[in-house]
Amino acid sequence: MKRSNFLITLLTGALVLSSCVSNKPAERADEIDKKVNALLAQMTIEEKVGQMVQYNGFYDATGPAPSEGNAQEKYDNLKKGGVGSFLNVRGAKQVRALQKIAVEETRLGIPLIFGLDVIHGHKTLSPIPLAESASWDMQAIKKSARVAAIEASAIGINWTFAPMVDIYRDARWGRVMEGAGEDPYLGAKIGVARIKGFQGDDLSAHNTIAACAKHFAGYGFVEAGKEYNTVDFGTSTLYNIVLPPFKAAVDADVKTVMNAFNIVNGVPSTGNKFLQRDILKGKWGFKGYVISDWASGAEMVNHGFAADLKEASLHAAEAGCDMDMESYTYVNHLVDLVEEGKVNVSIVDEAVGRILRVKYELGLFDDPYKYCDEAREKELLYHDDHQAAALDMAHKSVVLLKNEGGILPLAKDQKKIAVIGALADDKTSMLGSWRIGSDDGTAVSVLEGLNKHTANYTYAKGADVVAGDVNFVFHLNENTTDKSGFKEAIQLAKKSEVVVMVLGEHGFHSGEARSRTKIDLPGVQQQLLEEVYKVNQNIVLVLTNGRPLALPWAADNIPAIVETWQLGTQSGNAIADVLFGAYNPSGKLPMSFPRSVGQCPIYYNKFSTGRPVNAEKNVFWSHYTDEENDPLYAFGYGLSYTTFEYADLKIDDANPKAIKVSVKVTNTGGVSGEEVTQLYIRDKAASVVRPIKELKGFEKYTLAANESKEVTFTLTDAELGFYDNQGNFIVEPGMFDVMVGTSSVKGLSGSFELK
Ligand code: BGC
Repeated sequence: MKRSNFLITLLTGALVLSSCVSNKPAERADEIDKKVNALLAQMTIEEKVGQMVQYNGFYDATGPAPSEGNAQEKYDNLKKGGVGSFLNVRGAKQVRALQKIAVEETRLGIPLIFGLDVIHGHKTLSPIPLAESASWDMQAIKKSARVAAIEASAIGINWTFAPMVDIYRDARWGRVMEGAGEDPYLGAKIGVARIKGFQGDDLSAHNTIAACAKHFAGYGFVEAGKEYNTVDFGTSTLYNIVLPPFKAAVDADVKTVMNAFNIVNGVPSTGNKFLQRDILKGKWGFKGYVISDWASGAEMVNHGFAADLKEASLHAAEAGCDMDMESYTYVNHLVDLVEEGKVNVSIVDEAVGRILRVKYELGLFDDPYKYCDEAREKELLYHDDHQAAALDMAHKSVVLLKNEGGILPLAKDQKKIAVIGALADDKTSMLGSWRIGSDDGTAVSVLEGLNKHTANYTYAKGADVVAGDVNFVFHLNENTTDKSGFKEAIQLAKKSEVVVMVLGEHGFHSGEARSRTKIDLPGVQQQLLEEVYKVNQNIVLVLTNGRPLALPWAADNIPAIVETWQLGTQSGNAIADVLFGAYNPSGKLPMSFPRSVGQCPIYYNKFSTGRPVNAEKNVFWSHYTDEENDPLYAFGYGLSYTTFEYADLKIDDANPKAIKVSVKVTNTGGVSGEEVTQLYIRDKAASVVRPIKELKGFEKYTLAANESKEVTFTLTDAELGFYDNQGNFIVEPGMFDVMVGTSSVKGLSGSFELK
């Protein structure tokens, strides 16, 4: 292997950049710092700025010289040492080809870092993140991220743009599929589980990758759920809702943070000093680096914050954005800005130091090709072990919303099952919207899953969900007219004992740039459902969707509803296992399901307002005239094939630093099942008003039939405090309500005084 420049750099001069580093974290960090500083001292300003540049993958790196678009420019810049990172280049061979140029043909041979959106798996896909979050199972979520890292690292990737830790409350926003839902406490725990899964215990291992907490900050609050829209929230929401999952990510040693498209208080996130310098790098002591979102640097011109791209470059660098993704702000302007004395070189040094540090931590200087093993790639993609993990995660992600009269699970010998809905026979949609690395047609369809349990079903499509081709980049067209399959479906339903209807959204109905104003069943599906219902009411509605849907009619009329989101590669197997009771569903909603879109944004941890109840029985209280206040299905809600009874709430507040709250939970339903017991508090009177309920603890466990368990939570300052409007975490004495139960709306309540 020719490693000329790379080795020369390592071994010449006063620098001894030994590849042998200590295993002790502190020592290792120290050694890496020394290496970073030594390397920085050798770099020209062009080479430094080069490290701050990330390009989108630009041509077949193993093929002939580039000719498309600005590929030649990127290629030339790469050869000059003017690129620090690529995104969207994948495949061991491709990555190796580019890495070889960086390492062997540039003056200093600094390896590239390769980023990709590995959001819920690479080839083998787990459920979409929102679905995984419904499991409330941190070990399973961590494992899912671990599997994603194993597959991604086998194709040359050493950095994922995940997890998205944005909190959001509006189901119209398409990206709700990519995060952990509406609650910052659950969201923080899930974000940390994902980071640990991606990064593992040793970032320098060949199968661990750097994680990226995104989008810093506030992207989840796009007004009216409209993609890329303005956000506007108060200080208390910033500190108590938006920031905590990011803080938890930093505490969990996340290596990178991505800023956001949106403005916060009139300042674009990419140019936001307060967020990036004061809070992230200052107050929280973040040691990794910040990447812009795609072109978010350049978009500061559109926002009206920078007059041109040069000024945008200045703002981004000064505000602490260390690497630019596809804005061409740094690559075209930052050297000039430094030379003109407008940007201090120390800003560039700081950014480059952070980037190099992560490259060292990944072990890229020790072996820049460690992620480029074609044999490993071949062996690991779609590996059986990964399929097993994806199936386990898919089981745990299903939420049983309704099961009247015990229609589910279906009996093993159930006769005459009708299966209706185009999505039942779809091997792609359930891979979700972020299936960037996976192959179309690789999901197990519902029909294929059912084949493993029964031969007693007949399928009729009923209606297509979409019309024409679909793809990631363009709008999808819904089928709003073609009902030619209704007749066959209705006739089939008529002669069947039970009807399984698989309805919902296509995978490309949600995700980035997929906001909707109607969050019902798209196209003619609602009509299909109602027509079938007229001839057979024994319907199991299997929903597949990337966001909460508002389905009041179904909730009122259909006896069984199973929320299956988009469950990834193993979708059909997991769904069929649940329908036939081979797996007892245990998921709980991480996001409220509204009754109608007009309720959005809707979330459980709301404020009381001054008029929370209809005390006077007139109209002057906080409500709608045409809709209830409550969601259709609340945060934390989800049924099981068994039932759990809660009793004996005990509160021991003798020690204010460790208040104990316990309940006895009994499985009373006759079959083994998993329950997620949730604890909510309300700080009754505080200097900054607190929500009417806040999740502050949960535990997931299995109980055999008739088995009981005492579940105990300990509340400390961390759970009982909050951020004031200056961003200080404070704990105030006073009365607290506490509720422990099976969802955010059902449990045993008590109170205590914090002294
Ligand atoms: C998204 C990011 C993503 C990036 C790179 C952007 O459009 O907002 O979340 O990581 O593209 O694909």
